[in-house]
Amino acid sequence: MDKYIINGGNRLCGKIRIQSAKNSVLPILAATVLTDEKVTILNVPDITDVRNMLRILGCLGCRAQFDGNNVTIDSSSAVSYEIPRTLAHELRSSVFLLGSVVSRFRKAKIAYPGGCDIGLRPIDLHLKGLKRLGVRIDEHNGYISCECDVLKGNEIMLDCPSVGATENIMLAAVTAEGTTVIKNAAREPEIEDLQNFLNSVGAKVKGAGSGTIVIDGVKKLGGGVYQPIADRIEAGTFLIAAAMCGGEVELIGANGEMLSSLLHKLYENGCKIDAKDDKISIVSDRRLRSVKSVETQPYPGFPTDLQAQMTALCAVSKGSSVITENLFETRFKFVPELRKMGADITVADRCAFVRGVSRLRGATVIAQDLRGGAALVLAALAAEGKSEVLDISHIDRGYSGLEYKLRAVGGDIVRNSV
Ligand code: UD1
Repeated sequence: MDKYIINGGNRLCGKIRIQSAKNSVLPILAATVLTDEKVTILNVPDITDVRNMLRILGCLGCRAQFDGNNVTIDSSSAVSYEIPRTLAHELRSSVFLLGSVVSRFRKAKIAYPGGCDIGLRPIDLHLKGLKRLGVRIDEHNGYISCECDVLKGNEIMLDCPSVGATENIMLAAVTAEGTTVIKNAAREPEIEDLQNFLNSVGAKVKGAGSGTIVIDGVKKLGGGVYQPIADRIEAGTFLIAAAMCGGEVELIGANGEMLSSLLHKLYENGCKIDAKDDKISIVSDRRLRSVKSVETQPYPGFPTDLQAQMTALCAVSKGSSVITENLFETRFKFVPELRKMGADITVADRCAFVRGVSRLRGATVIAQDLRGGAALVLAALAAEGKSEVLDISHIDRGYSGLEYKLRAVGGDIVRNSV
């Protein structure tokens, strides 16, 4: 398994271009099953989650071409409605295919999805929503089987604003008869991006980005070329890296509006931030002041996908912070690893109590999930001495060429394939 070897202490200076958002690309790829015409998605990150989604599409009979930058999908040859256990286990987002596959074939069979082990991650809201559209669901032997005669638009009230459930229902409703209204929908920018993609190929969706999404079913979707939004979590990770290491970094293609919950915290932390057009720049002198509290919330609140990185930042800031994780139950698994580097953090239930130290020291640590793994890389870059971050396959799920991008701004990080 690959590992990163990192010599900490370098300032980070320079420009980094941000990839298309992983959490946009994955549901958009799932959406390509809905059409018989070719779709090209631009600036797609070469990450394991995307590669696995392409393997799943291939297994359904779609033809996918990835030139390392753009992906073209031709779903006219799709024949199968079944996603085997081995593939579904690799990728949480395989669950989005329920909505699009059932819409295409009026049938779908999929093994329970895998993905990062960050909590229970139920899919009851996805299934409840699909049932409201007329889908019959049978759960047996670790598989979910869906069937329907016709998909019929309906009103769906989500018990909580789940990103995945909102997107899955959108995908099923796009070609349903009549109108579907999703209430208490998630408002993440990636949902609006999915809406924009769907509309670009002929769907009639409006309201995404607000709590109510209205979908008028259409008979057929077409093809086209689509550029997804930039990855706000990748951008946020680099901003926090620059804050922790000190330096001046400019992120090209990043959107400040979508990251305002983080930018406010970084400002409180003592960093200088400038966000305009499609650029965010940060200047940090490493004299960081702790933010009192960080609470993860659905968008536009502080993103759970930046919680681990923010905890690492608080670990090297002057003063104390309380970090509360409201979305996923086991998202503090990186904390014992950070402690090996000298961080002073205790966890009780959903809260981490962080007392900042002036410097972390290099250590050998193990990545256990995607964002927790990224937090360990940031801590190692800011620490004194040499660190090894093991099991970086978790990090490869969501960051494309992380070591190249960090090296380009002065980070001393290399991948070692063992
Ligand atoms: C998506 C993102 C993930 C991010 C998360 C929250 C993708 C591919 N992944 O994950 O990176 O961390 O949003 O912003 O876009 N819930 C239920 N029942 C359900 C579904 C969800 O109770 O049927 C709960 C979950 O346990 C969790 C909360 O709702 O507590 C939010 O989960 P959700 O928004 O669905 O996250 P994902 O779509 O899995």
